[in-house]
Amino acid sequence: MPATDGIPQSPLQIAIVGMGNVGTGVAKILIEQADRIAHRAGRPVVVKHAIVKDETKSRDIVLPPGVLSSDLSRVLNDPTVTVAVETIGGLHPAKETVLALLKAGKDVVTANKALLCEYGHELFGTARELGRTIAFEAAVAGGIPIIAAVGQSMAANQIIGIQAILNGTSNYILTEMQLYGRSYAAALKQAQDLGYAEADPSLDVNGTDAAQKLSILVQLAFGTKLAVADFPVVGIDAVDQTDIRCAEELGYTIKLLASAKLTGKHIELSVRPTLVKKDRPLSQIPGPFNAILLEGDMVGPVWYSGRGAGQLPTASAVTADIIDIAVGRAQLTFSRLDLWREKPAFTNLGLDDYTSRYFLRLKVEDKPRVMADITGILGKHGISLASVIQPETPEVDSAAANVPVVPLIIMTHRTTAGQLAAANRDFDKLPAIHHPRVCLAVAD
Ligand code: NDP
Ligand code: HSE
Repeated sequence: MPATDGIPQSPLQIAIVGMGNVGTGVAKILIEQADRIAHRAGRPVVVKHAIVKDETKSRDIVLPPGVLSSDLSRVLNDPTVTVAVETIGGLHPAKETVLALLKAGKDVVTANKALLCEYGHELFGTARELGRTIAFEAAVAGGIPIIAAVGQSMAANQIIGIQAILNGTSNYILTEMQLYGRSYAAALKQAQDLGYAEADPSLDVNGTDAAQKLSILVQLAFGTKLAVADFPVVGIDAVDQTDIRCAEELGYTIKLLASAKLTGKHIELSVRPTLVKKDRPLSQIPGPFNAILLEGDMVGPVWYSGRGAGQLPTASAVTADIIDIAVGRAQLTFSRLDLWREKPAFTNLGLDDYTSRYFLRLKVEDKPRVMADITGILGKHGISLASVIQPETPEVDSAAANVPVVPLIIMTHRTTAGQLAAANRDFDKLPAIHHPRVCLAVAD
């Protein structure tokens, strides 16, 4: 084919399987920015097939006639289509779809972290056997090029630490609760309406989505496969306004923090609501933004931030993968990614040995000896106190039948999860400590 402005006219024909929020964004970029994409990909990129579940649904995009269908076999049987985007989401039929696409000779781009976390080993193995590529920049932190950063740009380093905000929905909810006093339920509904949340939003708010992304980053950074069940994962669903206000008064913001730290041969990783000092950049990441602080042993700290969810930011990363495949970069990167070593160099630290500082919020009966009992239990388990705050309450008649219940905030020095669990078991035996008890990590 003759070239115009150096761009050959034979197009790269692609399929998008899953035309929801993200798939539609990819089609929009490819159609509305066609010249830019053609220039960067070295040839026009054309959506030949767009596959959905329900063809009758109204769509936020107009596609040329004959492109939209619910028949995947049109893609599988079309040899002119060499790249397919999987934006169905979830595990099934996404897994079967990606395997079928690879077997039909297509390179695959996916934004599906749940799929890679659960079946990455099998899918990557199949792609390698078949000489195909799987590109997945959008699977972690939406529009932030973090896969390229960890997989390629920091290749001279051993990454020794990751601290990150990886779920846009949770960060959006926490921001709305903190800055505007909005309720958890109203903020979640808004995140869903804005297209940030997963089809099943419980995966966002219970920490699973961030944990899947952390697991992928850990595999790239440390060559170690750890499933979400292998490390502590706590969501924001239990965080309430009281915790947000208490943390604020102490000079902290609560963030759903995903962190991984290398100590010797061991990795310590977790996803949990965490108090982050207000002067730290991570505490100031708003709304659907994500942020990742990587620590390399050669380069030191490197900081990434941007939109971690939403249609065009995510589609931006998917489109970059399509361009990388078009110019041959993705194949090269994929063949060299350090994924899932047979004998990982690093292993998970025993969960009881994980260490952190903690914020404890207890509801306690305001009567003699309670404080002594609590500090006694913490002392017995070797937990050192950094501060204790019990707001002053009005004097009550000591002969009254009902003892008032007051909040007690304790900040601990660094301790192990095992020590804290043992103290909590002893707290269970004290009737003067009421439920619920809140225990949040404090970031270093
Ligand atoms: P949506 O739920 O909006 O879209 C899913 C799409 O898949 C729909 O078009 C649906 O069809 C289609 N689909 C469902 N089942 C099938 C099937 N069996 N065969 C063909 N198509 C099917 O999801 P999102 O676009 O929000 O997310 C897609 C992926 O991107 C997920 O893996 C998600 O984790 C990931 N992601 C999402 C981000 C975001 O901000 N939303 C950010 C980063 C990653 P129909 O339209 O007919 O119902
Ligand atoms: N539901 C995800 C989030 C989408 O809120 O971060 C991006 O992966």
